[in-house]
Amino acid sequence: MSELNLTDFPAGEIPLTPILTDMWGEDRSWTLDAYRAHGGYQGLEKAKTMEPSAVLEAVKNSGLRGRGGAGFPAGLKWSFLPPDDGLPRYLVVNADESEPGTCKDIPQIMANPHALIEGMAICSRAIRCEHAFVYLRGEVAHVYRRLLAAVREATEAGLLGDLKITAHAGAGAYICGEETALLDSLEGRRGHPRLKPPFPAAQGLFARPTVINNVETISQVAGIFKYSDNWYASMGTEKSKGHGIFSISGHVKHPGQFEAPFGITMRQLLSYCGGIRDGHELKFWAVGGSSAPIFTPNELDVPLTYEEVVSAGSMLATRAIQVFDETTSVVRVVSRWVDFYQHESCGKCTPCREGTYWMKQIMHRLEAGKGEEGDVEKLLSITSEIGGRCFCALGDAAITPVTSGIKHFREEFEKGYTTPAWELFPYKRTVVFNNAPAKDGE
Ligand SMILES: Cc1cc2nc3c(=O)[nH]c(=O)nc-3n(C[C@H](O)[C@H](O)[C@H](O)COP(=O)(O)O)c2cc1C
Ligand code: SF4
Repeated sequence: MSELNLTDFPAGEIPLTPILTDMWGEDRSWTLDAYRAHGGYQGLEKAKTMEPSAVLEAVKNSGLRGRGGAGFPAGLKWSFLPPDDGLPRYLVVNADESEPGTCKDIPQIMANPHALIEGMAICSRAIRCEHAFVYLRGEVAHVYRRLLAAVREATEAGLLGDLKITAHAGAGAYICGEETALLDSLEGRRGHPRLKPPFPAAQGLFARPTVINNVETISQVAGIFKYSDNWYASMGTEKSKGHGIFSISGHVKHPGQFEAPFGITMRQLLSYCGGIRDGHELKFWAVGGSSAPIFTPNELDVPLTYEEVVSAGSMLATRAIQVFDETTSVVRVVSRWVDFYQHESCGKCTPCREGTYWMKQIMHRLEAGKGEEGDVEKLLSITSEIGGRCFCALGDAAITPVTSGIKHFREEFEKGYTTPAWELFPYKRTVVFNNAPAKDGE
């Protein structure tokens, strides 16, 4: 969490709204006692007095939208489940969090796991589920332990009633964040995306009706019931209601998690971050992780809502904002992102499996200054063969850094025909924690 004194900012700024993050910095914030001292589980108590249909209506009314990328309305998704037939129905929380730059769900579980558990209990009541799962990225063993301990605490305190919560640690794969690949993995198979339809609401986990939501989506549900659906809907904008975590990393003075209403701008968020590191200026920024087209300083005043970010040419997605100053080689950054997608491609379909590998080869030679005349056109041609032709959204995600990088910084890619990126942009200058002015040749 940022150490910045949040009262230092000029009046008129959109204020931060730390609801999920308000207790992150407290001593043993992850314990049941700490959570209850902050009014934790009051929302669940309220939800228990309501009919499941009323719980669902309140979530719909709040306007809460999914925080895993697409921004799909949460209440509407829950309402897609068929009528209860007495057989199992499941809630699965997606905690795979693997996108480059994305770093909100894992800290949320680490610092405040009970908000997620409370949200799961409320959602389970709405959809009449008795067994809920959290699918967690396996590399974060310490977070897994914390989650297990919190589930145990809540269960032993009798807060969950008949609800059983299972925390499952995956082996660690970006594709297992895709909801249907996640279900395959949770069922014990290799994580490959499934053909849709049927959608998980009809046939999900073990072919039973299933709601899949992101960690932040479900964690926000606790606040909606602790306060009210109208309280939540009063924040943000008409179509992007509420508030969310904006994770800011890179060349800012104070990187961190900033919980703010939708509609805040990057300029305002930058002021909360203390601005770009001293002596430098903003070159470009990723607004929604590596899968969303990059923005330049021209978009600093775009209200960060789902609709307005799309109108401006990108996607809000997970609000994983990565900031790059003028010392950064775009070719180098895009090359690392393409490495990631090539490595994470599950190999199920040809355009993604082969195309990401071809893009990686070309990006590496451009980065090394050994590009061949026509490589930029070749890259664009490959992206047009991948885009819209893949089995899941990973393929489209993989081409986005390439197409948007070339759109804004084509000349840097063309310089890769003759000059290594590290000569054009000496890598030492981009080091995040080195605020000293770089000397020539560094
Ligand atoms: C390749 C890929 C990776 C994804 N990774 C995640 C992830 O780590 N966490 C997540 O919540 N959603 C991820 N998603 C989106 C999920 O498929 C799904 O839309 C989301 O979990 C639904 O939750 P929400 O409605 O609360 O946003 C990913 C999608 C794709 C295509
Ligand atoms: S697009 Fe890529 S990740 Fe998705 S199914 Fe095809 S090969 Fe697998």
